[in-house]
Amino acid sequence: MRTQVAIIGAGPAGLLLGRLLDQAGIETIILERRSQDYVLGRIRAGVLEQGSVDLLDRAGVGTRMHAEGLVHDGVEFCFDGDRHRFDFCALIGRTVMVYGQTEVTRDLMQARDGSGAKTIYGAEDVSLHDFDGTSPTVRFVKDGVAHEIACDFIAGCDGYHGVSRASVSEGALRTYERVYPFGWLGILVDRPPVSDELIYAHHARGFALCSMRSPSRSRYYVQVAADEKVDAWSDDRFWDELRRRVDSETAERLVTGPSIEKSIAPLRSFVAEPLRFGRLFLAGDAAHIVPPTGAKGLNLALNDVGCLADALVEFYGEGSDTGIDHYSDRVLKRVWKAERFSWWMTSILHTFPETDTFGRRIQRAEFDYLVGSEAASRSLAENYTGLPA
Ligand code: APR
Ligand code: PHB
Repeated sequence: MRTQVAIIGAGPAGLLLGRLLDQAGIETIILERRSQDYVLGRIRAGVLEQGSVDLLDRAGVGTRMHAEGLVHDGVEFCFDGDRHRFDFCALIGRTVMVYGQTEVTRDLMQARDGSGAKTIYGAEDVSLHDFDGTSPTVRFVKDGVAHEIACDFIAGCDGYHGVSRASVSEGALRTYERVYPFGWLGILVDRPPVSDELIYAHHARGFALCSMRSPSRSRYYVQVAADEKVDAWSDDRFWDELRRRVDSETAERLVTGPSIEKSIAPLRSFVAEPLRFGRLFLAGDAAHIVPPTGAKGLNLALNDVGCLADALVEFYGEGSDTGIDHYSDRVLKRVWKAERFSWWMTSILHTFPETDTFGRRIQRAEFDYLVGSEAASRSLAENYTGLPA
C-alpha cells in the first residue's frame, strides 16, 4: 500500500486531519486499533471554542453541530455555595458551543466514509519505521495478515497511550508532567441539566461540575480520591455528594435519575517536546494532556491538526518546508498557554490533600478577585473561550 500521509488513530485529531487533507486533495490512510463502534462509545468532554467551531465548519462537518449544539454565553463558578456567573459574551463578545466529542467524531467519520478515503479499523501491532529519512513506512496486522504502508509523512494522532510517541528515541524527547492526587467521577443521565450553563463548583469536600450534552441529557462530575473505585459509588451516593458541593438552590433544582454511564478519569498535565521528528508529527493527546477542568483537550487536538494540515498543504502545494518546520514551535506556544490555564482552573477549584487553611483562603481570594475584577473576569473569559491559534 502507498499513501501520502499515514495517520495513526481515528480520534477527533486523526479524523479532522484526514478530512482537511482530503479536502486539499492529499491522500491519507487512517489506522485505528479499535473498532468504529468502540471509538464512538467513548464518553469525552463537550465544550468547543469558537476556533474549533470554525475549523469544523471549514472541514464541512458543522451542519449537525449548529443544529444540535448549544451556544453558551458564559459559565458559573460556585465557591462554598456562593455562585457567580461569568458572561463571556458581555465581557469579550465570545461564546462556546456545547457539543459532545462523540458527536464531533461521528460527524467526521460520516464525512470520511462518504468521501471514500481509507480507514482501517482493528489495525493491530502498528509500528512506525524510517521516519528519520524521506521514505517512512508503517506496518500493521489486520485479521492476522501483515501489511506495510509506504508514505511521505506519518501523523501520530493515537492518544496518550499510542505507539507514535513511544516510537521516538528517548533522547530526542523531553516530557513535562504533573499527576494530580485525585480523579473525576462522572455520570451521564437522561434528565434535563440543572442549569442552562455549566456550573464549576469548589467545596471543602471537593470539586463538582454540572455539565450537559443536550437539553435532555446531563453530565455531572465530583472530585474523588485517585484510588477510588467506581463500584463504591451507587447513583444515590453520587447525587448526595453532588448536592452537598453545590449551592442550595442548585441542589434543590437538580433532577436526578439512573445513570447511563459512570466512570472515573484520572487528572494529568503532560507535554512532550518537540512535536516533529523528521517525517513524524505528533498531535492531540499523543503530544499533550490537560486536566479536564478548562475543557481544553479536544480544542487543543483540533487546533494542532488544523496547523498540521496547513503545513502539509503548503508542502504539497508550494513545495515549501516552512510550515512543517514551524509546526512544533507554533503549536507548543498555544499548548503551554492552555496547560497553564487548565492547571490554574484545577488548582483553584479542587481540594488538594496538602491544602491547609492558608491555601483555602488563597483559593477563596482567587475567586473573590475573579468576581470583583473585570480584568480578571476578562482573562478567564478569553482563556476559556480560546486564545488565538
Ligand atoms: N494503533 C492505532 N490506533 C491507536 C493506537 C495504536 N497503537 N493507540 C491508540 N490508538 C487510537 C485510539 O484507539 C484512539 O481512537 O488512537 C485514537 C486516539 O484518539 P483520542 O484518544 O481521542 O485522541 P485525540 O484524537 O488526540 O483527541 C483528543 O480526546 O482524550 C480526549 O481530552 C481529549 O478531547 C481530547 C481528545
Ligand atoms: C463535560 O461536559 O464532559 C465537561 C465540560 C466541561 C469541562 C469538562 C468536562 O471542563
